[in-house]
Amino acid sequence: MKPEKRDLKYKINWQDARKSILDERFKGPKLSFDPKIKEKSAADFSKKISEGDFEYGRKTAEIFAGFLEPSYEVLEIGPGPGTVTVPLSKLVKSITSIDLSLRNIEFLRKNLTEKGCTNVEVINKNWLRMDDYELENSYDLVFCSHFLWMIPDLEEHINKMENASRRYCAIVQPAGRDKLVKDVFTVITGQEYGGEFEPDADYFAYVIIRQWGRLPNVSHFSYSNTMTIDEKVRSIASFIGRFVEVDKERVEKIRELVAPHAEDGIFRETMNAVVMWWEI
Ligand SMILES: C[S@@+](CC[C@H](N)C(=O)[O-])C[C@H]1O[C@@H](n2cnc3c(N)ncnc32)[C@H](O)[C@@H]1O
Repeated sequence: MKPEKRDLKYKINWQDARKSILDERFKGPKLSFDPKIKEKSAADFSKKISEGDFEYGRKTAEIFAGFLEPSYEVLEIGPGPGTVTVPLSKLVKSITSIDLSLRNIEFLRKNLTEKGCTNVEVINKNWLRMDDYELENSYDLVFCSHFLWMIPDLEEHINKMENASRRYCAIVQPAGRDKLVKDVFTVITGQEYGGEFEPDADYFAYVIIRQWGRLPNVSHFSYSNTMTIDEKVRSIASFIGRFVEVDKERVEKIRELVAPHAEDGIFRETMNAVVMWWEI
């Protein structure tokens, strides 16, 4: 076989595909309808996770349990409010969790305290700027969840994860979006939804990892979210606001579209997530 035939990663041109998806978006969502949207969204996210009794994290931890040992030291990149951190902390010796956002760290610390997790060290740093030499072979498991769209260079990120690990790496990523957010996108923007905010970057990661000769295990699970109408409206606005500005008029339209889907003021959705883990 010719050498270039083996270079599948470049043949399918995943870098251009990923870049064009990233380029379609505004850098941050344009949400002029509420000046406090960032604070409210972080609070909504933390509330959703803890009210759902960390279902996403529990199911992730159940899958990780297939290869974890109680003596393991874990590095988590981008813990947010502790979606996975809280349930996983019960299964391992320690977790070091690195997050860029002080706002999210505040919710993480609150959830760790409330759930009695005493083996988690929280570091407020940019993962991409952390020193690879210091991190090398330092952890039994290095993982990230719902993180892949946060970084410009996926290969650099996975390479950095592998450098920090002495045994396993794992990626967890929500798969697909609920139908309502897609329907609302079409009504608000007048464009047919073409997958603009699907979270499914796991397939880019899979191609890279396989190209490096790893044999990733892939599994998936479903989980439920419960939100008030206001919370669901803010969540949908944060996706749509990446493509068009969401002002007061547009947010009212979103509310009109969301309200009929709630029961007694509560919106419920079932989502899926992919878990990928491999030995280095
Ligand atoms: C979408 S949240 C995911 C939270 C959680 N892992 C989950 O699965 O629900 C992504 C988190 O990554 C953090 N983050 C983004 N870029 C980062 C970086 N370069 N270094 C560290 N943390 C980062 C954000 O602040 C945020 O808390």
